[in-house]
Amino acid sequence: MIPIIIDCDPGIDDTAALILATAAAPELKLLGVTTVFGNVPVERTTLNALKVMELCGSGHVPVAKGCARPVLRPARNAQFIHGATGLGRVDLPEPKAHPVAQHGVDFLIETIRGAPAPITLVAVGPLTNVALAIVKEPEVMRQLERIVIMGGTLRGLGNMPNTSSFNVYADPHATEIVLRSGLPLVICTIDATHMVRSTPRQLKLLREVGNRHAGVLADLFEEHAFEGTPEQLAADTPVGGCMHDPCCIAYLLAPDIFGGRMVNVQVDTSSELSMGRTVIDWWGHSDNPPNAFVINRADPEAFFDLLRGKVALLGNF
Ligand code: RIB
Ligand code: CA
Repeated sequence: MIPIIIDCDPGIDDTAALILATAAAPELKLLGVTTVFGNVPVERTTLNALKVMELCGSGHVPVAKGCARPVLRPARNAQFIHGATGLGRVDLPEPKAHPVAQHGVDFLIETIRGAPAPITLVAVGPLTNVALAIVKEPEVMRQLERIVIMGGTLRGLGNMPNTSSFNVYADPHATEIVLRSGLPLVICTIDATHMVRSTPRQLKLLREVGNRHAGVLADLFEEHAFEGTPEQLAADTPVGGCMHDPCCIAYLLAPDIFGGRMVNVQVDTSSELSMGRTVIDWWGHSDNPPNAFVINRADPEAFFDLLRGKVALLGNF
């Protein structure tokens, strides 16, 4: 049993991460969800987190609203991908639950402080909440088992105009705080998550699982940023929306479907041109000590087999 907290900005792929994490119980024990600005403003990411947790029958899991903006930069969002609501055209029922009163940063600190066993923190949005928790209570954050982060690029083929990745670009200074923290980090880069795209065939197989959660996931990804031409889609070329965030959950469940190595990772916060670009010393040419296990590849077939197998376990309540 792996106790986890998910810090997220739901968000279409964040939703897939939350669904996979709840479906993976009791192997994963989701202690709480903290929300942050990112794909959409934090009011929306918080509402979406509450909606998704209730969809999964986990409305009892505490959701704590976190930071509304980066530590230094102006806030930006990705509504051009995730839609105004953050859930594309999918409409989930209004939640019964409300966020807890505690701020997301304080929820992280107090949940980690009081945990009977070391927690794995899965951070799949901008790292603002995580960074502020590290600054506020470094000793408490040292109780973490590890932080699994979605973000960064090894080969510089990110999804931002300057080829950085959204989560890092959205708050590069928070990312720098986390990278310098000395905490055990696993970084699932876009190089890996770009290999895990929702193709028409995979979405068809997902929909055939037959429960409401699989249907919502297929709906979310069906209309999500298909970058392919009709010919590519017809040929089932992997051009669909990327399963960025659920890859971090899948890594906890089946690390062998991913590949990577311990290397040194830094982030550029000095130049506007390459703001938020990660500099990953893959070949060890620098004298900088390794500070993260960087994942640069994934097995999409194995990922989708895992996703379908777990989501099928969620009842049709
Ligand atoms: O670059 C992909 C990341 O940015 C994902 O976490 C997605 O949800 C967005 O937040
Ligand atoms: Ca996200």
